[in-house]
Amino acid sequence: MAVRTVLRMGDSRLLEKARTVDVFDTPELDRLVQDLKDTMYAENGAGLAAPQIGVGLRVVVFGFEENTRYPQAQAIPETILVNPVLEFASETRDDDWEGCLSVPGLRGIVPRYTRIHYSGFNQKGDKVEREAQGFHARVVQHECDHLDGILYPQRMTDMTTLGFTEALVSSGRLPGMPCDTARE
Ligand code: NI
Repeated sequence: MAVRTVLRMGDSRLLEKARTVDVFDTPELDRLVQDLKDTMYAENGAGLAAPQIGVGLRVVVFGFEENTRYPQAQAIPETILVNPVLEFASETRDDDWEGCLSVPGLRGIVPRYTRIHYSGFNQKGDKVEREAQGFHARVVQHECDHLDGILYPQRMTDMTTLGFTEALVSSGRLPGMPCDTARE
């Protein structure tokens, strides 16, 4: 069990392009995946990417059954994705709220493709392949952006929606978020 420090926006490591993983099924990769999972669950994240704990490799984890940071969201199976590839099944994009453990206390509305196909490998090298839509598709796009040094504010088209979660909740702009979880 190793909960790692999550880097915060402003750290230059979050802006770098992560490297492809060449070798699977190693103790190092197993440890990285375990640290990502431990940290994600400890911080109640919907997902976490390796660059967020200072490791510049193309590895993300995501998934939850219930999530206090996104109480309205449907469950996503716990998934480890190494060297992910995304394809957009349609041009349609949806606007919805996002947060990020590297941008604590804030939320903003981000347009994302509604339906995607994603593939990659788990840490053992087994192929992972899925169709996703809605919040699941959103989380995968958000996490994979971290591998290219992109944080969600860089994807926003209306910066007037960027705000502190507490203020968004108390002014009624962020529906369905219990106030006690809004502090993050
Ligand atoms: Ni993030």
